[in-house]
Amino acid sequence: MSARNSHRSYGRVARLFHWTTAALILLAAPLGIIANRLPYDTAQSLAFKAQVFSLHKTLGVVVFFVALGRILWALLEAHPAPLHPERRLELWVARLVHWMLYISLVAVPLTGWVHHAAVTGFAPIWWPFGQGLPFVPQSEAVAQAAGSAHWVFTKLMIVSIILHIAGALKHHVIDRDDTLRRMTLGTLAPANPVPARRTALPLLTAAALFGLGAGVAALPRGEPITTTPTVAAAPAGNWQVSAGTLTIGVTQMGQTVTGSFANWSADITFNEVATEGRHGTVTVTIDTGSLALGSITAQAKSADFFDVAAFPQAVFTADILPAASGYEATGTLTLRGAEVPVTLPFTLTIDGDTATMTGQTSLDRRDFGIGASYGDESSVGFGVVVDVDLTANRS
Ligand code: HEM
Ligand code: HEM
Repeated sequence: MSARNSHRSYGRVARLFHWTTAALILLAAPLGIIANRLPYDTAQSLAFKAQVFSLHKTLGVVVFFVALGRILWALLEAHPAPLHPERRLELWVARLVHWMLYISLVAVPLTGWVHHAAVTGFAPIWWPFGQGLPFVPQSEAVAQAAGSAHWVFTKLMIVSIILHIAGALKHHVIDRDDTLRRMTLGTLAPANPVPARRTALPLLTAAALFGLGAGVAALPRGEPITTTPTVAAAPAGNWQVSAGTLTIGVTQMGQTVTGSFANWSADITFNEVATEGRHGTVTVTIDTGSLALGSITAQAKSADFFDVAAFPQAVFTADILPAASGYEATGTLTLRGAEVPVTLPFTLTIDGDTATMTGQTSLDRRDFGIGASYGDESSVGFGVVVDVDLTANRS
């Protein structure tokens, strides 16, 4: 038994590669399907779902690297000759399926990985080399495109595997030839005097099917993603907000997940000179349903967390007071039915009639009954960092 392939059988290295990838994929694929369908309505079920996803992703990344090694080896090696070269259609289908498998060995883990790198939070890959990928931005649109491609490509892969296994069994049980044995035991199959013709057509067909799959994945579906935050300027006050972002950062499974509210408005009265120790007042009204928080947006909006169905608005009403390093807005945040005193320190730069402010504060989700069933910090941290940046014009 040789390490190398011959025209009569697969060598030890090719067989080790084949069965290692086969075993990893036959584990990773069901884990992906199971992880996707697991519920996440309690802290325990969410933690379990994340574990299954992490296992899925970690196995998937291993598949990617093993697959690269395997493909490199296959390029260097001879391919055992088909045992029935005269069965032209059967041979063509077998080669098409082999190409489908080779392409999916790279395309499936890569799209999963890009999806993972583009979306923030939830279920890390269990390894020390970071969670991002070079050239992959953190973007909802990229994540959605890669996620859809992952879904479609896994379906092409699963169909190919089913056809592939059916073919192997057919050779073994019906033809009773050495096709399966030469991949399992390295049995030397009888030499076939009739050479098989090689054409590029199976490869082109496989590439076209994946191209078609990518096209299907790119079809628009569902609601468009809101990428441009809208800040509605409230009419009162002497400053009108023209642009701004309202961001929150939470710790989920040990990772920081940042997101933002797309729709909010601010009613600001501000004078450079304080009257009775006060520079003015501010009221910020936030549409809680406009929150986008990476892969956990739906969960964040659910009844356990922001409960946007029951509490569609959050309101922060505050006085603007002078502070050691700039100003602070000191008042009450009404969120999810709870009224909590909040102070937001901020810096302000006024250039003529344009003001730019940047502020940050920290909240404790427990004060608002957010994630009450998540009693410790193992899934979701207690602290929430709020960042506000805005530009306003004097009216
Ligand atoms: C060869 C390796 C892989 C295989 C065979 C595979 C297979 C699958 C399957 C079958 C699903 C379920 C799709 C469905 O619900 O029907 C899935 C989902 C998923 N996989 Fe993979 N996967 C692989 C690698 C990866 C990698 C490397 C990552 C990330 C690093 C990843 C991330 C995901 C994610 C995030 C989902 C859920 C997608 C969603 O929410 O729409 N996968 N995968
Ligand atoms: C129980 C499952 C599997 C069985 C019984 C099986 C069986 C076989 C056999 C018998 C061959 C040799 C075909 C020949 O000599 O013409 C083969 C080749 C191959 N298998 Fe599998 N296989 C399985 C799973 C997989 C999986 C999951 C993958 C990858 C996703 C895979 C990818 C391939 C590829 C790419 C080849 C072609 C090797 C070459 O370039 O010559 N197989 N398989």
